Amino acid sequence: MTTPTCMIAALLALLAVSAGAAPACHNITGTCTERGFECVSGEVVPHAQRCNGVEDCSDGTDEFMCEHEDHRPVFERSVEERHAFAQASCVNCNCAATAFSVLSTSAWWKYALTSPTDTALMTGTPSQAAGQPCNWKCASAITIGFYRKNRICRGWLCCARQRACTACSSSSPCTVSSTQNRCY
Ligand SMILES: *[C@@H]1O[C@H](CO)[C@@H](O)[C@H](O)[C@H]1NC(C)=O
Repeated sequence: MTTPTCMIAALLALLAVSAGAAPACHNITGTCTERGFECVSGEVVPHAQRCNGVEDCSDGTDEFMCEHEDHRPVFERSVEERHAFAQASCVNCNCAATAFSVLSTSAWWKYALTSPTDTALMTGTPSQAAGQPCNWKCASAITIGFYRKNRICRGWLCCARQRACTACSSSSPCTVSSTQNRCY
C-alpha cells in the first residue's frame, strides 16, 4: 500500500467521523439548542433523535413537523411565509392530541407565539381582536394544542395551534379581556 492512498483513506475516515459527530437537527421549531433537541415537556434528546422515526420525547414532539425539507425556524420567516406554512401543515391535521402550557422561559416560546390560533377556541368579538394570536407583551404562558393527521390519528404530530394565553398582565399596554383565553 502506498502512503498517499493510506493518507486519503485516513482523511475520508476522519471526515465520516466528523460528519457523524455533528448530526443535523431539524430546527423548524427553533428548539435545537446546544444541549440537544428540547421537547415541549422540557426533556432534551440528542439531535440525532430528532426526526428519526421514533418518539423519544414523552410528548412525541421530537417527531413533530419532520416532513419539511426546509429546516429554518418558522418564527424567523416572513409573516407571509409563516402563514402559508401554517396553513399547509394544519390541513387535515385535526385529530386532537395533547395541550401543553408553554412558558415564556421555554425554548418553545417563540414557536408558540407564532403558531396559528385555534379559531374555535380563541373566541372574542371583532373589536376585541378576535382570531388574533396572543400578545407576547401581555401573556407569560400560552397553551398550544398539538394535532395529528386525520384518519391516521395514531401518526405523528403535524400542527400546533394556540388555544389560550394565560397569566395575562393587566398593566399597560395590555388590556385583559373578559374573554379568558387571550391576552392582548
Ligand atoms: C435553531 O434555531 C435557533 C433559533 O434561531 C438557534 O438559536 C439555534 O442555534 C438553532 N440550532 C441549530 C442546531 O442550528
